[in-house]
Amino acid sequence: MPYRWRGIGVVVLVLAGMLSARAEEKSRARSGSAANTDLVKQGEYLVNEVAHCSHCHTPQDEKGRPDRSRLLQGATLPIRPKKDTENWAGKSPDITRSGVTGEWSEADMIKFLTTGKNPEGEGPTPPMPVFRLHKEDARAVSHYLKSLPGKGGHKRKEGGKDTE
Ligand code: HEC
Repeated sequence: MPYRWRGIGVVVLVLAGMLSARAEEKSRARSGSAANTDLVKQGEYLVNEVAHCSHCHTPQDEKGRPDRSRLLQGATLPIRPKKDTENWAGKSPDITRSGVTGEWSEADMIKFLTTGKNPEGEGPTPPMPVFRLHKEDARAVSHYLKSLPGKGGHKRKEGGKDTE
């Protein structure tokens, strides 16, 4: 290689190095959001297939089927205790971003789903069960709930403060 070309060779090598570093950074960022998508998917599975939060938190249509257009937006419960009791919530709250998930931080939700204590340190009123999920599962549920804009669709404010 003639002497004067050598400098260019070095520049090209340096540039190539910089580009591959950038590509690596980008793919790392991409796998970060892929990880979040996985978390949301895992949460969706836990909420809808395992813990059946929808049974109580999604309103039913006239035929008694869950109304998917109001998914997890709070409902009058279809179930009642045999005996009248004061310690029974007849309604469930909206747990999407337009409801509880918009008010609580991620840490609040994780604490609630792993210990059964809400931010006031109180347990749930029956029939809301005390959940003792693993922290990772609780985090997935929280991410999934946060992915649901709830009432008013996308115009609503973003979810509560993030802790992570
Ligand atoms: C058997 C019915 C039922 C199921 C199943 C259920 N909930 Fe609830 N949930 C309720 C009722 C009723 C309330 C209102 C009583 C209360 O706030 O303590 C409630 C309240 C809540 C609250 C607010 C608690 C507070 O202190 O303000 C959150 C958050 C919540 N539920 C999340 C969930 C999640 C997440 C799931 C699934 C993993 C779930 N619920 C499953 C009935 C249910």
